[in-house]
Amino acid sequence: MLQRSWLFVPGDSHNKLAKIAGCGADCVIIDLEDSVSLENKSAARSNTKDFLKDWQVGFNLPQLFVRVNALATSLTSEDLSFSISKATTGIMLPKAEGGANVAELAALMRVAEARAGLDDNSTKIIAIATETARGVLNVGTYLGASSRLVALAWGAEDLSADIGAQSARNAAGDFTPLFSHARTMVILGAANANIAAIDGIWADFRNFDGLQKECQEALRDGFSGKMAIHPNQIPIINEAFRSTQAQLAEAQNIVDAFAEAGNPGVLNFNGRMLDRPHLRLAMRILAQT
Ligand code: COA
Ligand code: MG
Repeated sequence: MLQRSWLFVPGDSHNKLAKIAGCGADCVIIDLEDSVSLENKSAARSNTKDFLKDWQVGFNLPQLFVRVNALATSLTSEDLSFSISKATTGIMLPKAEGGANVAELAALMRVAEARAGLDDNSTKIIAIATETARGVLNVGTYLGASSRLVALAWGAEDLSADIGAQSARNAAGDFTPLFSHARTMVILGAANANIAAIDGIWADFRNFDGLQKECQEALRDGFSGKMAIHPNQIPIINEAFRSTQAQLAEAQNIVDAFAEAGNPGVLNFNGRMLDRPHLRLAMRILAQT
């Protein structure tokens, strides 16, 4: 299933959770981590637990992910005990520092699934892979970590805090080389692990032109979706990451051309040379619909 837009909703906000059914996001991430203060953690837990219990999975409704607290906090197991449910598509792991962390989370999830009476491996993982310097340095280690892992995401906010950068962006609003590097590493790390790369949030939520530009750059560079913090960002993200009819038709023509030619290594496609990477890209575009 295509997962373009990922909307964060603070787990302690009853009001915001009540709005997600019609928000149009492909996925909603109920947050127990950074958007919830320490004194509100337990309110967020009981609110999220009740919300998941009442949620009816249905067509055209977002898939639900829960962002648990990072492994280093010792809150993760308790978060998983109620976050894993029939309504939950997956768990988001913040501050991931490589494949070993994902394997560790997967083991905890297995226990939580058994306790919830769910099949083993029924819940997926998306990891935020660039929130610490070590995380960035380890993005090449996700291949084979767990079959649950479907995507890597990145974010600049926590990395700034970890390395002591004063700003992630220059005066023109573009990422500085260090943050651009982290962004690139996530694209490479995700491709290496054969999973999706999801772009970070655009915090300036009333600036739609800025969001649109960032979506286009993300699509160009290999991201297949983007995280959001406000429902108004969802239509822009969904539209930006939707393949056009022309792109789909072209991809289908390329796949057909290879099939008709007996699946060669290279072929002449209306005067253009196409080889295996073009075929792989075309198949990838079709798989995302
Ligand atoms: N999910 C669901 N509903 C949301 C929402 C979200 N992420 N963000 C805003 N809304 C709702 C608001 O509750 C508000 O509803 P109301 O009219 O009934 O009060 C409506 O949309 C309009 O919101 P607006 O007034 O424009 O913004 P706000 O000041 O209420 O909220 C934020 C701004 C940034 C605090 C809010 O968007 C938010 O909490 N975002 C998610 C933050 C997060 O999870 N961060 C962690 C990951 S980076
Ligand atoms: Mg954070």
